[in-house]
Amino acid sequence: MNKLKQLLSVAIIGLAVATVSNANVRAEMNQMKGVASALTNANDVATFQKAAKELRDLAVQSAEKKPSSIDNDADFKGYQEGMKEFIAVIDEADKLAQEGNLDAAKTTAKRLFDIRNEYHKKYK
Ligand code: HEM
Repeated sequence: MNKLKQLLSVAIIGLAVATVSNANVRAEMNQMKGVASALTNANDVATFQKAAKELRDLAVQSAEKKPSSIDNDADFKGYQEGMKEFIAVIDEADKLAQEGNLDAAKTTAKRLFDIRNEYHKKYK
């Protein structure tokens, strides 16, 4: 009986882990929409950097999850590469903002939409 309970709990834990790793990125993507426009509409460095941090956190979270639209490892890897590229541009823009160059930061941030479009075409 104990053995059966043990087996059952292992099965339940396994199922829970599988559910988490299949979680999709739609919630993060929908949040990114608002945060990305806050970033490009920012009128001061503090607002820009707050949005940049939020967008970066969402991108990191998204990169850890396998979107439901992706069904093989090669595509998942390509998707994660895209997220890395996306995060690198956020960091570049954030650095410019940190240096007080808000206009250049916003120009750099516009590239995020090109990256989005490129990867949506591939994997969305
Ligand atoms: C400003 C940046 C971005 C915005 C605003 C954005 C927004 C969105 C939205 C609104 C959706 C649809 C969600 C839904 O169906 O409810 C979506 C889906 C998706 N996006 Fe993005 N996205 C961004 C960047 C990216 C990047 C950089 C990647 C990949 C490297 C990516 C990959 C995907 C994928 C794979 C889906 C499909 C998810 C699924 O069906 O499960 N997105 N995105």
